[in-house]
Amino acid sequence: MSAQPAQPSPPAAPAYSPGLEGVIAGESAICQVNPEAGLLYRGYDVHDLAKHCTYEQVAYLLLMGGLPDATELARFRKELDAHRKLPEPVIGMLRLQPRGAHPMDVLRTGVSMLAGFDQDLSDNSHAANLRKSVRLIARVNTLAATAWRVMNGQEPAPQQPGLSHAADFLQQLNGKPAEDWVVRAMDVMLILYAEHDFNASTFAARVTASTLADIYAAVTAALAALKGPLHGGANEEAMKMLEELAKTPDADAWVAQRLARKEKIMGFGHRIYKKGDSRVATMRNLAKEIGPRVGQTQWVPACEALEAAMEKQKGLFANADLYAAPLFHMMGIATELNTPIFAAGRTAGWCAHITEQQDHNRLIRPKSLYNGVASRPLPPAVGRAR
Ligand code: COA
Repeated sequence: MSAQPAQPSPPAAPAYSPGLEGVIAGESAICQVNPEAGLLYRGYDVHDLAKHCTYEQVAYLLLMGGLPDATELARFRKELDAHRKLPEPVIGMLRLQPRGAHPMDVLRTGVSMLAGFDQDLSDNSHAANLRKSVRLIARVNTLAATAWRVMNGQEPAPQQPGLSHAADFLQQLNGKPAEDWVVRAMDVMLILYAEHDFNASTFAARVTASTLADIYAAVTAALAALKGPLHGGANEEAMKMLEELAKTPDADAWVAQRLARKEKIMGFGHRIYKKGDSRVATMRNLAKEIGPRVGQTQWVPACEALEAAMEKQKGLFANADLYAAPLFHMMGIATELNTPIFAAGRTAGWCAHITEQQDHNRLIRPKSLYNGVASRPLPPAVGRAR
């Protein structure tokens, strides 16, 4: 009798990981987050990019895979400029928003509405996605600034062609040119926020893109995910917390009380970084530079006192959202705009991921571990209402 061929054993069921911690959910060539506190965009250290490049160069790098030469950069900036203006009906929508609506909700609605104005909407080819990415990067910037003005009873600011992306945001927000140091600080913040691997909003964007929904749908999903205080919303909450902390001289006791109440301290902790967030050092140095310039030297020591207390009491380190909060504050930005600015920076990263996802697409569809009641019959008394 001939031996039966051995049956291959069924593949081991992947282990369940709450919050998908440690799960590799896809491949990407865009960004590398090193748990030991390093961050590379397309192989370049984010600190070098923040020091030597502009946001436009970084956005181009994320989208195209390499840094632009002078001609490519000039063309990219021209394209951004050409797409900054919002369609009139979108400005009309901003006027319809209820008083007190959160700028992130308005931004999300605005991006969703912009979809209908893009002639390439349903074309998910690489080339079309890149064209739409440029429009989105330009218009999310305009939308974040213009929404704030309109909701505060002001008219949209007139466009000033030729400005950098950072300068354009500030011009559209304030209706006048910003000082050079504010523009440079904004540029650094946009660069540091531009990309961060499979974070929650990027993953939401990739899941949406994987259904072959369009790039506007995917960015809208990303914006929805970014709003939450465990993600992008943390930079707004961190400022409120720092203002509250300013009323007490004892950061250690303040932290202890909050931890005892099982409250989260915003701007601390991270799923990947366990020894500190790679972006914090650059932000801390920037805050040290800006503080004396604007007569607000209190924020860096306040953050440092919090950092010491959190490390001692919980073994946790600051993330980018802690220092982003006082930085935006010192730049004269309203706290409710902290997360929309994060979104403006991250739009380049989201678009790069959506394009990458659709270039090599497979539907993202994990499964759940069912823990509900077992199969059961309907009770006899239940019948269709007549
Ligand atoms: N303040 C207080 N405790 C925190 C904390 C924080 N900011 N971040 C994590 N912890 C604690 C948790 O309470 C938990 O403690 P326990 O084991 O004693 O219950 C432990 O650390 C693990 O936290 P967990 O929330 O499970 O980690 P995570 O990897 O799921 O979450 C964050 C990561 C970022 C969501 C989390 O650190 C957090 O909520 N931070 C505050 C919000 C924030 O700054 N978000 C921006 C991220 S860039």
